[in-house]
Amino acid sequence: MTEQERVALVTGAAGGVGRATVGLLAAHGYAVIATDISPDVEKLTDHGVAPGAGAVVGLVGDVTDSATAELAVAEAVRRFGRLDLLVNNAARFLRRPIGQSSDDDFDGLFATNVRGAFAHSRAAVEPLARTRGVIVNVTSISGLVGMANQSLYAMTKGALVQLTRQLAVELAPRGVRVNAVAPGAIETEFIAEARAADPDPEATAAAVLSRHPLGRISTPDDVAAAIDFLASPAAGGITGTILSVDGGYVAQ
Ligand SMILES: NC(=O)c1ccc[n+]([C@@H]2O[C@H](COP(=O)([O-])OP(=O)(O)OC[C@H]3O[C@@H](n4cnc5c(N)ncnc54)[C@H](O)[C@@H]3O)[C@@H](O)[C@H]2O)c1
Repeated sequence: MTEQERVALVTGAAGGVGRATVGLLAAHGYAVIATDISPDVEKLTDHGVAPGAGAVVGLVGDVTDSATAELAVAEAVRRFGRLDLLVNNAARFLRRPIGQSSDDDFDGLFATNVRGAFAHSRAAVEPLARTRGVIVNVTSISGLVGMANQSLYAMTKGALVQLTRQLAVELAPRGVRVNAVAPGAIETEFIAEARAADPDPEATAAAVLSRHPLGRISTPDDVAAAIDFLASPAAGGITGTILSVDGGYVAQ
């Protein structure tokens, strides 16, 4: 099979990491179903029209609704005949002390960050088994180490770490590989709300940067490259791994 024949589904595709991932996969010849709750995702349609690049179809959908997962997978199979890669990337952030975190915060964050990945993985498993395909989950350093005021977000990202390991074992007999990338801080709009509520966002940003040993914040392209690698035949022997893209954050 050549890369030109591969088909990917990327959630959270209108955001920083999602857009970079869709662009890189399309440049490598994947046809991509790109989904997001934001209508901006429709602007990605036909993005991959460069010579040799794959087609991109942008679809609006909320990952908290399991029907979105079923529809997106069905659309990949209907339009392109197969599914080779699922990237569970859609997520919301919450920086809030546990004493101020509500049950609704818990349910909302888990519905987006965890149930979305669960529902998409469940919907994709049969098509992926047919192509000996790949799942890449986007987790976080927050799923690997403790960080103040992120209990709910960190729990969701920790759940994705364990979903990754669990599905790697469960789906290995069917030839499906399951891995995750765990970014450190990335330059995107992801923490815009938390930044707006921060009394001293510049001090917080400086403190965050100082905890990244390489002295740089990752870019969406850094994360997209790691996703692309884990999806590629070069990673054919890799499953159940959590690939840190964090400038050394969790190595300390
Ligand atoms: N930005 C960071 O600092 C950072 C750090 C570590 C991990 N991550 C992870 O990277 C991934 C991508 O985040 P990003 O930095 O590109 O942020 P982003 O906010 O730019 O993109 C996230 C996208 O998810 C979409 N989304 C949110 N809720 C959704 C829903 N219910 N249904 C469908 N789409 C929904 C948003 O509309 C947005 O386009 C996330 O999984 C995040 O947890 C981000």
